[in-house]
Amino acid sequence: MSDEVDADEHLAVIETGRLWLSVPPASHAARVLLFDQRNREHLAPWAPPRPDPLDTIPAWRARLLVDRQKAREGSAFLWRLRAVDDREGAVLGTVSITRIERGPLERASLGASVDLDHQGRGLVHEAIEGALDFAANALKLRFVEAGHAPQNLRSAATLRRLGFVPYGYARDYLHVGGRLQDHVLLQYDLRPRRR
Ligand SMILES: CC(C)(COP(=O)(O)OP(=O)(O)OC[C@H]1O[C@@H](n2cnc3c(N)ncnc32)[C@H](O)[C@@H]1OP(=O)(O)O)[C@@H](O)C(=O)NCCC(=O)NCCS
Repeated sequence: MSDEVDADEHLAVIETGRLWLSVPPASHAARVLLFDQRNREHLAPWAPPRPDPLDTIPAWRARLLVDRQKAREGSAFLWRLRAVDDREGAVLGTVSITRIERGPLERASLGASVDLDHQGRGLVHEAIEGALDFAANALKLRFVEAGHAPQNLRSAATLRRLGFVPYGYARDYLHVGGRLQDHVLLQYDLRPRRR
């Protein structure tokens, strides 16, 4: 896939108080790989199966090209988080808006993670706030959904603090952490965020 038009440009940039979110160019593959390697164990209990090995810089370059294509099309946004004063530096976490549906639903799915050494600082809270503003105003969606395994207490706390409201409980919902797991399903109404 060609990424020659804007090979160095970051897409869908969002700035919050402490963070800088972007869909990075393929040239940032090494930094993304480092985040992945550092956090593999930390994220493993909540990670989906990975059929393709993502252990090399070329593999991550290819993945970032796909992410950028999706952002250009407006079909999904996979942001990497950096410190606002270190935009070329280490990746601190991820936030994503995926499975965007138009028509009568106008909804999307939200996901997030933070580096194991940066938990407990409210960084994901801040990043999700930025992504929710983007979903409400740039994407003009009506609501986003998220889910967490019942035992994922950190995720539950983050989503509840942001104002996500539980609406269901699905048995054997998602294949994460090597097995099918139940999920608590939550919604966030974006309409009050519209400017
Ligand atoms: C779920 C996950 C993203 C939560 O990370 P987190 O750092 O706890 O999330 P938040 O950004 O909401 O931060 C909350 C913590 O920061 C503290 N905090 C500090 N400043 C804050 C601020 N300005 N705003 C909110 N919280 C703040 C809170 O008191 C809380 O501390 P505690 O952990 O001692 O209770 C993280 O554990 C993770 O990556 N898990 C694996 C992946 C996963 O489960 N993803 C699903 C995410 S929805």
